[in-house]
Amino acid sequence: MNLRAETMEHIDATIPRYPHKRSAVMPLLHAVQRDQGYISNEAIAWVAGKLGLEPVNVYEVVTFYPFFRQAPIGRRHIRLCRTLSCALCGGFGIAEVLEEAFECRMGETAPDGSATLEWAECLASCDKGPVLMLDDDLHENLTEEGVRELARTIRAENAEGSDSSMTGNNS
Ligand code: FES
Repeated sequence: MNLRAETMEHIDATIPRYPHKRSAVMPLLHAVQRDQGYISNEAIAWVAGKLGLEPVNVYEVVTFYPFFRQAPIGRRHIRLCRTLSCALCGGFGIAEVLEEAFECRMGETAPDGSATLEWAECLASCDKGPVLMLDDDLHENLTEEGVRELARTIRAENAEGSDSSMTGNNS
């Protein structure tokens, strides 16, 4: 496995914290996903080897929890809340704007790889809907025009190969 040095350090420091090293499977998988963007079959086998487990034991964990991904995603990860409060505030209209802007459906990755669109359940900001998460940042009180602008910026950054991240939490 080709992991960053800081990921390896984190993993090596994490395992001894657990009386039974198999209990470190979740934090290890999170660390690998942060590093690689998803959990590959190679990563499953590697984590299993690290913890003295069979790959199938790790595979069961990866496939049980929806926050573990088994395929690469786009450069940015957009998760739009579809729960009731956000839906009543226009969340599904925001989804249509995202789909048009990124030329893909919810659950898919834009053809240019700039972003992956996913639905999320309540993001605990119901009074400021509609709401989405852009990577780890919450964007609240979304408007269709604000989301169009956000999408334009993300696609432009992707085209430039820029690493700058979006800021602010109101779009
Ligand atoms: S319903 Fe969308 S954040 Fe709670």
